[in-house]
Amino acid sequence: MKVVVTGGLGYIGSHVAILLLELGHDVIIVDNFSNSSPAVLKRIESITKKNPTFEALDLKKQIDVKTLFSIHKHIDGIIHFAALKAVGESVEQPLRYYENNLHSLIYLLEEVVLQSIPLIFSSSCTVYGEPDAVPIAESAPLKATISPYGATKQMAETIIQDVCVANPTFNAVLLRYFNPIGAHPSAQIGEIPQGVPANLVPYLTQTAIGKREQLKVFGADYPTPDGSCIRDYIHVMDLAQAHINSLEFLWNKKQETNCEVFNIGTGKGYSVLELIKTFQEATGQQVNYSLTERRPGDIMQAYANPQKAEAILGWKAQYSLAEALSSAWEWEKRWQQEQSSNNE
Ligand code: NAD
Ligand code: WQD
Repeated sequence: MKVVVTGGLGYIGSHVAILLLELGHDVIIVDNFSNSSPAVLKRIESITKKNPTFEALDLKKQIDVKTLFSIHKHIDGIIHFAALKAVGESVEQPLRYYENNLHSLIYLLEEVVLQSIPLIFSSSCTVYGEPDAVPIAESAPLKATISPYGATKQMAETIIQDVCVANPTFNAVLLRYFNPIGAHPSAQIGEIPQGVPANLVPYLTQTAIGKREQLKVFGADYPTPDGSCIRDYIHVMDLAQAHINSLEFLWNKKQETNCEVFNIGTGKGYSVLELIKTFQEATGQQVNYSLTERRPGDIMQAYANPQKAEAILGWKAQYSLAEALSSAWEWEKRWQQEQSSNNE
């Protein structure tokens, strides 16, 4: 099958591109390098020994989207990862986030709807805001999000749902990812944070390797068993597999409605302190950390009820938290080693 992967040089998209290539699909990666580099393409090729088509296009420009669909015909599916994703940055630059994340989606939809190309969209657990109860099912209400980034995901979901209502032959799957962590088992690709990481696992691995002095645990006074926040950390390889199952689900025309929403999480919640302990045990690395004040806007606890994905997509997370953290550590070591040899 011919599959377009937008944002395919990014963290999650690159892992999905690898699985698609390994399954023998024709992969067309589109990326504008706003949060990636051409080196990732080389790594995808080196891991898979295959050559995906690559288009350096900026999807927030309608002309670029039209170019993509004029060059490539008979596309069987599209996975839309391309977006800006830094929560804090989105508060400072809301228009940049609304323009990038929503223009790109609207221009893509104009093309894919016309050709009834099945779409998989990267949504996020951020759409639930502070949940009334855990585990969170897809039917839980969507609450106000704290950031323009989160708002782009809620708006994108509404846009896709409205387009599905208006176009019954068009099919979409919205995947609400919980907290993706970890890296490919080859340790050749993984998450590359820009500047100081805002997310827990890259900050932790950078602290363990000595690049950061100390990890701050944001809040130890939450009403949780150990006082720190609880999240559902999912291995990026499990997350990548959920896209394969979703594509097959769309291709086999198994959907009851033409816009299906799935939580993609493990169903298990771990606190920040449990995660640090698991990392230390799994890798043998000690992490210098301290308990500090809460981070404004943080949700106390969020973890998925992933039963719908299991029942309908036949997908279930396979990796443990320890395996995901070990893979993040292997990637961090290799990445820092490469950075230092590049600087020599
Ligand atoms: P990423 O930044 O690593 O990858 C996104 C890729 O899209 C980058 O390579 C970037 O260069 C590209 N891109 C951005 N705007 C573009 C444009 N206008 N045209 C072409 N390419 C563009 O992010 P990721 O972590 O791989 O996330 C992928 C998707 O999953 C995003 O939509 C993100 O919002 C969503 N998501 C991520 C997380 C997470 O924690 N990583 C959680 C939930 C949802
Ligand atoms: C996890 C936990 C922090 C850093 C973000 C986005 C969300 C989604 C997933 C895209 C929290 C704590 C963190 C640190 C810490 N992304 N923490 N010290 O906040 O659950 O979600 O990524 O859609 O939209 O908001 O992830 O990794 O930032 O934090 O104690 O240095 O780790 O307080 O409890 P979060 P995170």
